[in-house]
Amino acid sequence: MSDALTDTATDPQAQAPRWPMPRAEGCPFDPPPALRALTADKPLARVRIWDGTTPWIVTGHAEQRALLGDPRVSADERLPGFPHWHEGAAAAVPYRPRSVFNSDAPEHTRFRRIMTGPFTFKRVEALRPAIQKITDHLIDAMLAGPKPADLVEALALPLPTLMISELLGVPYEDHEFIQEYAARGIAHEVSAEENARTFMALNEYLVGLVEKKAAEPADDALSDIAARVTAEDLSASEAAMMGLGLLIAGHETSANMIALAVPALLDNPEQLALLRDSDDPKVVAGAVEELLRYLGIIHGGQRRIAKEDIEIGGEVIRAGEGIIIELFSANRDAAVFPEPDRLDLRRENARHHNAFGFGIHQCVGQQLARVELQVVYGTLFRRIPTLALATPREGIEFKHERLAYGVHSLPVTW
Ligand code: HEM
Repeated sequence: MSDALTDTATDPQAQAPRWPMPRAEGCPFDPPPALRALTADKPLARVRIWDGTTPWIVTGHAEQRALLGDPRVSADERLPGFPHWHEGAAAAVPYRPRSVFNSDAPEHTRFRRIMTGPFTFKRVEALRPAIQKITDHLIDAMLAGPKPADLVEALALPLPTLMISELLGVPYEDHEFIQEYAARGIAHEVSAEENARTFMALNEYLVGLVEKKAAEPADDALSDIAARVTAEDLSASEAAMMGLGLLIAGHETSANMIALAVPALLDNPEQLALLRDSDDPKVVAGAVEELLRYLGIIHGGQRRIAKEDIEIGGEVIRAGEGIIIELFSANRDAAVFPEPDRLDLRRENARHHNAFGFGIHQCVGQQLARVELQVVYGTLFRRIPTLALATPREGIEFKHERLAYGVHSLPVTW
């Protein structure tokens, strides 16, 4: 055997399996078996992505937190070797404005401070009655309509879309345009042209809206952001990117969580009963944390790059190597969560999940998402105790091709 062939057979980079990997047939809630096999006895390994490079994929809970909290790890997508999601994301780098998503401290701190105001615990708690009212109204409308109903269209998508539109001051009439373009933008395989077209359309829309808010300010988050443009703290394109980021992150994620939890709970009737039969807010809040842990929904891995050599998990990540943090896998790390594949709404440490990330990029909207999920799960099964799928389980179309996992539609009856 030649040296070259021997090297290929033993070199972990040459053998790195392709990422993303498919889930097992009939196991829509568990991580891909091939990823589990790859990282069964180690918290990180090499994978091969769309451009042929072999970044590290990190699945261990402790190692993810260590890396996400490490200033030697960067989210700067301009650095050579950055493991982009797809061709379209890589091609967009030169024209994508700087934002929380692609910056490190101290640049990140500047953006983040401007963004967090409307999403603090106190301000989101004040929205709870409005979230409850909208949830009740949407459920009333679904019950008054024909059976079966699509739960995504009836409840999962409109609730977070209405809330984030309201908070930002985006006209709800534009939601169809926004949803369509946002969905295209977060597909797994997007060409450079499609990505550019999607981004330009959304960016143009947001720039126009920010200009309008600067001229006629209202009591909403986009008006606050527009005021920063007037004060020259932000450029117009940074402001548009901020609004766009909040808009996309604010509806697609919570919508997927709301809908995906329904088949997961119907699969586990004794767990569903705990939720349905309790009006204790602590029980409901605990159930939300466990559902966030169990479902994860941000699948495909957050992208980073090492700025210096980093020793971790028995390996050395070299400066300039890509890092993929597969948050969902950490939520199934048996070292932290005993029997990790079991949905256990009373799990004591469920809140230690990585579903909202960790470190400086940890989710801005997590309080809003938590309140939306607490209200929906706490209301839906109590108001409709007979809720059931109106399609065989195999008929459900899961969003395997999206960065935010979920279901495309969910026919339900009662
Ligand atoms: C269940 C719902 C949600 C989940 C599972 C989720 C998950 C995440 C995760 C994992 C990150 C970290 C990304 C990284 O480290 O690269 C993140 C960041 C972010 N999320 Fe969420 N999110 C949710 C809802 C929301 C909502 C409702 C909003 C807006 C109101 C939002 C806005 C953001 C923003 C702006 C960031 C970027 C923060 C930064 O980079 O500093 N998210 N989210």
